[in-house]
Amino acid sequence: MVAKAIAPSKIILSGEHFVVEGEPALVAAIDIYAKCIVEERLDDDIRIESKDYFGKIHVIKYSKNKIVDYAGDKTTKKILRPILIAVLKTLEFCETKRGLDVYIESDIPPSAGLGSSAAVAVAASASVLGEIKGNIDKEIIWKAAFEAERIIHKNPSGIDVTVSTFGGLILYKKGERPTFIKLNYKPIFIVGFINKRAKTGKLVEKVLKLKKEIPSIINPIYTSAGNLTIRLVEALKNRDLHTAGLLLNINHELLSAIGVSIPKLDIIVNIARKKGAYGAKLTGAGGGGSIIALVDESRLEKVKSSLEKRVKKLFITSIAEDGVKII
Ligand code: MEV
Repeated sequence: MVAKAIAPSKIILSGEHFVVEGEPALVAAIDIYAKCIVEERLDDDIRIESKDYFGKIHVIKYSKNKIVDYAGDKTTKKILRPILIAVLKTLEFCETKRGLDVYIESDIPPSAGLGSSAAVAVAASASVLGEIKGNIDKEIIWKAAFEAERIIHKNPSGIDVTVSTFGGLILYKKGERPTFIKLNYKPIFIVGFINKRAKTGKLVEKVLKLKKEIPSIINPIYTSAGNLTIRLVEALKNRDLHTAGLLLNINHELLSAIGVSIPKLDIIVNIARKKGAYGAKLTGAGGGGSIIALVDESRLEKVKSSLEKRVKKLFITSIAEDGVKII
């Protein structure tokens, strides 16, 4: 049998980093996808082949409990190990063993703050389930993909895996069930990826260290960010884009204060604001990656054309209601 699944990427509207220490964050799935195809093999091996965003092919072969061969470059094993974990954990949760060919193709730029690694792990787990059961179980996918995320980011909050699995707009608090937020309109976000990539795990560690060093200064920023997220949910529900934009701007400055912005992100965020975005901020771990700008139809073109020449890749997105699915 052959099974094929797609899983969405995400933008964090508010609360990245702060969410790692228990503050609420607001995250949306967006319609840029990781795709995975899984096919049964005649032997017991697992072969994973991945074509990344830049068109580079990585392959590993796993046999008798170890990686026995690989093709690509020196980063190949590191890139594919989390996917292997997602596949193995999914098989383990289903209490079965299977030889599988796993093909991954992702339209999500990696290390761009858009949840590429989570989406790939979620798509891989879903297509394994599709292959062995003919349908998906989102609890299993979440658990398997979270194990994979832990290999990459060490201390993930689970926000990326949650939104890629369940989709929609989610108010997320670590360790709690997600709260789904329904809007009666489609907000428009411009996403700009600046091509300077950053490692989420390292940035998370840096922020946690700062919090430990000067808690009396940093803790109030966490509380403020948590309150901001709750206010942002209200503003978006009321379609009050002016307040929502203001809150996105403040969120960016809070992230700057904890040291995860860089000058290029600040510049682009400021241009987006000047050209008419309701608000703009970095999204995801920072240190490079992407920004988001909140616009509506009347403001879209001006902001888009001013950002286009300054970013590596620009996406116009809204909230993708569906999470991972078999196609
Ligand atoms: C990464 O998309 C968001 C961070 O808050 C890390 C996490 O929550 O796991 C930076």
